[in-house]
Amino acid sequence: MAFKNRDHYQRALEVIPWATQTNAKRLLPGCCESMPPFIKRADGCRMWDLDDCEYIDFRASLGPIILGYRHPAVEQAVRDQMENGVLFSMASPLELEATEAVMQNVPWLEQVRFMKTGADACTCCVRLARAFTGRDRIVSIGYHGYHDWFAFQWPNNGVPAELKKFVYDIPYGDSREAEHIFVKHGDKIAAVITEPYDWQEIPGEEFIKTLRALCDRHGSLLIFDEILTGFRLARGGAQEYYGVTPDLSAFAKAMANGYPLSAYAGKKRYMQQLEKTILTTTYAGETLSLAACIAVMKVMQNEPVHDHIVAMGQRLKDGMDEIISEIGIPAHTGGVAQMPLFRFDFDDASKNMLWHDQLFSKLYSRGVFANDRWIIMYAHQAADIDYTLEQIRLSIRELC
Ligand SMILES: Cc1ncc(COP(=O)(O)O)c(C=O)c1O
Repeated sequence: MAFKNRDHYQRALEVIPWATQTNAKRLLPGCCESMPPFIKRADGCRMWDLDDCEYIDFRASLGPIILGYRHPAVEQAVRDQMENGVLFSMASPLELEATEAVMQNVPWLEQVRFMKTGADACTCCVRLARAFTGRDRIVSIGYHGYHDWFAFQWPNNGVPAELKKFVYDIPYGDSREAEHIFVKHGDKIAAVITEPYDWQEIPGEEFIKTLRALCDRHGSLLIFDEILTGFRLARGGAQEYYGVTPDLSAFAKAMANGYPLSAYAGKKRYMQQLEKTILTTTYAGETLSLAACIAVMKVMQNEPVHDHIVAMGQRLKDGMDEIISEIGIPAHTGGVAQMPLFRFDFDDASKNMLWHDQLFSKLYSRGVFANDRWIIMYAHQAADIDYTLEQIRLSIRELC
């Protein structure tokens, strides 16, 4: 780690727990020497650290950057809105315009309401499901943010242990466990909330259909946590990808290209539970993010965003497969082209971890920023992918 990065990091550690606000932005312990702790600017698919080192970015701010950093149409929409103001004493007309723009891309939605974070949107869906069904229990699959109803998984974490009895946490793909829970507790379950795609190798379609059928049979709601899949897996998210329609969905990352916006949305009869409960926050109608969202939705309608992302992701995945067989290392790729995975497959798990850290350390030093999941943006071009593949090839050769 070069001078400015190191100095800033030491100062930050003193006054900011974790030295960052976000868990996934903490330095990977095995990569501390070359992973940049701070990024001072980004443009397109590139970003620069405090020491002016340049990286091709495959983390996309953990998912929100779908078009690329500082996309001109989005930035112009935000600049225009800034002339009119950020937050008003009554609703902004952009709230309706953004709702209609989202509904054009995700046609199954009947009503939409905005929030600020993914955790907010997931919590809102769970609250509505509980209000509609009058039941307390939830089946939870995947990660849904830091709020109390979900965060009891971490030990000694300040969340009342009592809450645990309201949430059955099951692994993605485990249809048998889902069926088992419904047989025992079906009449108490308000909803299943699931990440619709698990980004690993487990095929999801049958599992999602099983969850839909279980919910229908037992009068529970199906909630898709589309924080990561929304507007990325397909323009219409996981509902379009699988052809399975949930009752409610939570959206966030990718809906405003990095501006802080999330949404909970779905069928009117569930959204209208808002007559009974309170879901409200002062900043949800903040206009810069809504303007960004409208611009993103338009770009997705007018340009081949998703075709390009899939083409670039497939190029990366195919190239990685070629490197694996050319060098003859135990490794595999997986996941969908929108966000491919690369994993080592040594019998020894600690060797997999070591090689992972060494590979990514080398890639950071060579100006490629990624982790296991390689998030593709509309801004990535074939030359960026080919340069990246060459750095992967050189790095793995050095490891062998
Ligand atoms: C699937 C999923 N749900 C919920 C969340 C929480 O979103 P946020 O960090 O915006 O609260 C995340 C964040 O990574 C996520 O990936």
